[in-house]
Amino acid sequence: MKQNIYDNNVFFQKYDDMRNNEKGHNANDVIEIPTIRSMLPDLTDMKILDLGCGYGENCKYFIDNGAKQVLGIDISTNMIEIAKNNNKNDKIDYKVMSMEDINKLEEKFNLVISSLAVHYVEDFDKLCKDVSNLLEKDGYFIFSQENPVGTGTILNEECNNETKIAIGNKKYYLLSNYNENGKRLVNWNNCEVIKYHRNFSYIINTLIKYFEIIELKEPIPTEQMIKQNPKYINQFDKPYFLFIKVKRK
Ligand SMILES: C[S@@+](CC[C@H](N)C(=O)[O-])C[C@H]1O[C@@H](n2cnc3c(N)ncnc32)[C@H](O)[C@@H]1O
Repeated sequence: MKQNIYDNNVFFQKYDDMRNNEKGHNANDVIEIPTIRSMLPDLTDMKILDLGCGYGENCKYFIDNGAKQVLGIDISTNMIEIAKNNNKNDKIDYKVMSMEDINKLEEKFNLVISSLAVHYVEDFDKLCKDVSNLLEKDGYFIFSQENPVGTGTILNEECNNETKIAIGNKKYYLLSNYNENGKRLVNWNNCEVIKYHRNFSYIINTLIKYFEIIELKEPIPTEQMIKQNPKYINQFDKPYFLFIKVKRK
C-alpha cells in the first residue's frame, strides 16, 4: 500500500519545521547528507534519477557537481512544489511520481539515488528490479534508509525512536520482532506513519539478485558530528541509518 504522508499538512508542517529550525544540527544535515555524498562516484556528465527527492537539495548538488541531467521524483506534491521553487535548474526535471511506478520511465540513468525513502516502499524486490532496468550497465544505485535495528520494533504498536530503557547510567534501545519483515506503524509528528522493516539478510539477498555490492556504511559519529549535535554520540549505541552502494551487473 502506498502512503503519501508528506501531503498530510499536519505531518508536513512538523517535518518542515524540524528540517528548518534545526538546520545544520538535525540528523539529515549532520549524518545523512555527508555520508551519502561521501559514497558518490564522479558525477561528471551523469544522468541521475533521485527517488523520493523531497526538497530537491541533492538534485541541485548533483548539477553543481557536474551531472548532465537530473530527474527528481516524489509522491508528495508539497515536496515537489518546494523543490521546484527552491532548487530550480534547467537541467533538473521534478515530477510527482511514486517509486512504485518507475517502471513507466523510458530513459536510462548512470546513477539512481535515494535518501531516506526506500523504507516507505512495500515491495523492495520490485524496486530493485525496476532500478536495475533503469540503469545503464555499470550504473550505480546508492541509497540510505532507516537502519533495520531501528525499524525492527514491536509489530503494529505505537512506538517511536525513544523506545529505550535505562539500566544504571546506561540507556539500552529495545529491539523486537526483528526477524518479522513487513509493515510497521510508527507515531511520528503526531501522525501514524507506515514504514516497512526488512532485516539485513533480506535486504542484502535481494540486492545481490540484481547488483554487485560495492559498499555499506553505518556512520560512526566523528568529533565533528558530536560537536554539531552532542546527542549523536548515541550513534555508537544504535545507528539511525544504513547506506548501501551497489552496481548494476
Ligand atoms: C524523509 S523524506 C527525504 C527527502 C529527501 N530525499 C531528503 O533526503 O531530504 C522521504 C521522502 O520520500 C518521499 N516518498 C515516500 N514514499 C514515496 C513513494 N512511494 N514514492 C516516491 N516518494 C516517496 C516522501 O514524500 C518524502 O519526500
